[in-house]
Amino acid sequence: MTDTLLRWDDSFLIGIDELDYEHKLLIDDINRLHEELAGHDEKSEIERCLGDIYARMQAHFALEEHVMKERGYEFFDEHKREHEALLNSYTEDMVQFLNDTDASASTPIEDSLKHWILDHILTSDKKMSLMVQKKKSFLAKLRNRISGS
Ligand code: FEO
Repeated sequence: MTDTLLRWDDSFLIGIDELDYEHKLLIDDINRLHEELAGHDEKSEIERCLGDIYARMQAHFALEEHVMKERGYEFFDEHKREHEALLNSYTEDMVQFLNDTDASASTPIEDSLKHWILDHILTSDKKMSLMVQKKKSFLAKLRNRISGS
């Protein structure tokens, strides 16, 4: 039995339900990849896992960017650039893995994904969520004040 690479913890929650749900799925996918790599499973299985993670990341970023735009997040461009850099970096790691017959090439993929989870969700996603929720609460108070006057 392989150790879990990333254990879901409520400290990962950012407070936007649909994005939290997708973050959980991403962590599940990354743990699955970790198990496949540790079990030295068929390369085709590992390739499938890598592709699933790429598709999940791409879809997640698209949804999150939609949420940010809809809620008028002021650092949208900066956050979107981070997503693009993460996808590019993951693509490079994937290509390197697929072209390398040495199993040790798997380590950078796991490292970069773990780094993304810990770094991006806990800093950039949380910052975004906090700011859009503050803005929502400020606008609600303003509306109440205007309609009450
Ligand atoms: Fe949840 Fe900015 O990715």
